[in-house]
Parts: sequence; C-alpha cells; structure tokens
Amino acid sequence: MAFKRILLKLSGEALMGDKQFGIDNNRLALYAKEIKEVVDQGVQVAIVIGGGNIFRGIQAEEGGMERTQGDYMGMLATVINSMALQSALEAEGVYTRLQSAIEMKEIAEPFIKRRAVRHLQKGRVVIFGAGTGNPYFTTDTAASLRAIEVEADVILKGTRVDGIYTADPEKDSSAKKYDTISFEEVYEKGLNVMDMTAFTLCNENKLPIIVFDMNTPGTLKRVVNQETNVGTLVEF
Ligand code: GTP
Repeated sequence: MAFKRILLKLSGEALMGDKQFGIDNNRLALYAKEIKEVVDQGVQVAIVIGGGNIFRGIQAEEGGMERTQGDYMGMLATVINSMALQSALEAEGVYTRLQSAIEMKEIAEPFIKRRAVRHLQKGRVVIFGAGTGNPYFTTDTAASLRAIEVEADVILKGTRVDGIYTADPEKDSSAKKYDTISFEEVYEKGLNVMDMTAFTLCNENKLPIIVFDMNTPGTLKRVVNQETNVGTLVEF
C-alpha cells in the first residue's frame, strides 16, 4: 500500500547535476516530473530541499565567517532552491505552496503548521524553505522536524546512491546495501544516514526513514508504493 503523506528531502548539491555550482534545469525538471507522478497518484507531498549547491555555512566558517552568519546565508540558499523547485512543479501543472521559516512574505507564506496540513489535504505540494529558521541545524533536521509536525508517514531522503551501505559504496566496492536496518544498528555501526540531531529526532518520534536514489527515474514512485528492497528502510 502506498504512503498517504510523505516528506521528501532533496539535497541542494543534487540540483547541480553535472555543473559545479547552481541549478541544472534538466535535473530540476526531472525532479518535478518524479514528484508529479506521486502527486497524481493522490499522495500528499511535503518537501525540504538543501542549499549546498549555492552556499554551505560550514565552509564559510572555515573561511573565517561567523557560524551563525554562514548558516543564515545557507537558509537563504534553500529558499532559492525551493523557489526554483516550485516553478518547475508549476510548469508541470502541480499546485504548490512555499512556506518559509524566515519571514519573507513577499515571496513565501510564513510557516504555519495547520495551514501546511490544509494545503496537503487539498493536494498541494508544500515546500518548506529556510530550514528550521535557526543556525546550527541542518536541512536534514528541518526535514525531520517538518515531517513530524505535519505527521508524515515517512521521511524519504533522496540521494545519489540507492540506499544505506555497510561502507561508502563510492569508495569501497565490497560495500553491501541494507534493505532494512534498525535505528539501533545505525547508531551501533556509526553509519551516516543523516546528522545525529536529525536522526535522533526521527528515532524519538517513531518516524521511519527511507534512503533512496532520486536520480533514477521511477524510483520515487516505487518507494512511495512501498515496493520491497527499493532503497533502505530505517525502521523500529
Ligand atoms: P486556501 O485557504 O485553502 O484557499 O489556501 P490558499 O493558499 O489558496 O489561500 P490564500 O488565499 O491565503 O493564498 C493565495 C495565494 O497567496 C497562495 O499562492 C499563497 O501561497 C499565497 N500567499 C498566502 N499568504 C502569503 C504570504 O504571506 N506571502 C506570500 N508571498 N504569499 C502568500
């Protein structure tokens, strides 16, 4: 059976496609098509997207910038990506609403949980921009928080690999993919699924996570329809 309400977490870097910086329009259009497929199926979709293709707070700190300043710049980068994704979805005929954790009412609604839920119930894709609105939190944490707030069934983390592996599959060819794994095992093995704040938020609120390959067309739909062994399910 398909999930009814999902929170899709997309990485900002993935939007670059083969570019070194910014947004690859082909990749953006591909994502919009993938999302439209599941919306057309009647699934309620909320989205959080990162900003690393435009700005990374942590690197700015390494360059001497104050951490909080860098983090706010990163949040603004997520708003740029959210707006781009909103446009791409609208070009596909999908109804969307953008809500921002930092008030910028000329371009986005403020984040209001009850309103977000109403939008979802009406079949609109709700994109949450500006992370949690606070420095020191990642967009993975924003995704976990929003997923819990809007009572999503699951958080779907779209990546460029098809799941969680025993080791980094891009570095170790003997690495094996887990079809399912428990939260405890992820802690024990020190696997890198999300940062610990985000991961623990999911664990404490009984929110399952599925890590999957967002770049292979059709995979999102398969994950949403709970086909077995697509991606890795982190469960209880
Ligand atoms: P319903 O109440 O279900 O009809 O939802 P709605 O989103 O259509 O209601 P509303 O009339 O509040 O919004 C109409 C449009 O204005 C939508 O595209 C909203 O995203 C947008 N909108 C609403 N509030 C704000 C805001 O504070 N800032 C910006 N930029 N847009 C807003």
